[in-house]
Amino acid sequence: MKILLTRSLHDFAIKELKKRYQVEVHAGKIPMPKDLLISKIRDVDGLICYPYDKIDADIVKAGTKLKAISTFSVGYDHIDVNSASQRGIVVSYTPEVLTRATADLTLALMLDLFRRINEGDRIIRQGKWKTILGPYEFLGSDLHGKTLGIFGMGRIGMAVAKRARGFEMNVLYHNRKRISAQMEKRLNVKYVSLEELFRRSDVVSIHAPHTPKTHEIVNLKLIKKMKRTSFLVNTARGKIINEKDLVTALKRKIISGAALDVFGGEPIDNSNPLTRLSNVVITPHIGSATIETRRKMAEIAVQNLVLSLSGKKPIYQVRTESSRQDLS
Ligand code: DGY
Repeated sequence: MKILLTRSLHDFAIKELKKRYQVEVHAGKIPMPKDLLISKIRDVDGLICYPYDKIDADIVKAGTKLKAISTFSVGYDHIDVNSASQRGIVVSYTPEVLTRATADLTLALMLDLFRRINEGDRIIRQGKWKTILGPYEFLGSDLHGKTLGIFGMGRIGMAVAKRARGFEMNVLYHNRKRISAQMEKRLNVKYVSLEELFRRSDVVSIHAPHTPKTHEIVNLKLIKKMKRTSFLVNTARGKIINEKDLVTALKRKIISGAALDVFGGEPIDNSNPLTRLSNVVITPHIGSATIETRRKMAEIAVQNLVLSLSGKKPIYQVRTESSRQDLS
């Protein structure tokens, strides 16, 4: 069997794949150009892809021999899962192993916003720290006692809730479906409507999947419900926020600031207005980017593909859009 990787993966993973298959690793432009992907996919049985690859209906249709798509990610909004499942192609993904890493980054971003860590770093590097700060200068806010609003209570949302309790925050959440009363009690979280979540929280953190329903759901109307002192954090998917609206809100100081690991189009560069706002912390989509987590993701992506190609159930199978779980 032949398999294609749209970019390189850990050496151990490629070695493992080469024991079983004829392996082609795309080494050129990333993401792989669509026409090239279409021409290559015609000939392969399995595909390992990444969130930047758009595996749409055209790609799926061109993959006449394709039996399995394994994405190196928890998010699968880049794959047309319905088209794939109609053609009997098994789609798999890598949840769970990246839950803690992504939740950790979320807390790091929250701490950064509340305590102005990046802002302080920038001030020093720009040679602007000229005098010892007085008691009222460069103040941030306490995390303890504040209200965190979690939008999307899947695995990552829950891991963020647990961490936030460690910082003595109050936690509200909104989710497509309310979690069980027992789980609410265990996590010490309270279910509210989306509007109430934005209205009452000191910081809103997004952990929902990007779907047609959540596409740009965070718009100016919703952001205007937030307190002027509040923050927005997004480590899920950029397209859940209307980025233009967010820039407007940040410029007009409708909210205090935002920390973003994900964007509407990635990568972003200096032409993106977010890069020029001092009340924004930005990171280059590194939610799962730890040595340990990425290694586990590689292991699972390979196992998922191998199992699917041998006619077995992969460890984590994506079903269809109707049974989508929260990004977790
Ligand atoms: C994922 O796995 O979906 C994360 O966003 C990293 O790409």
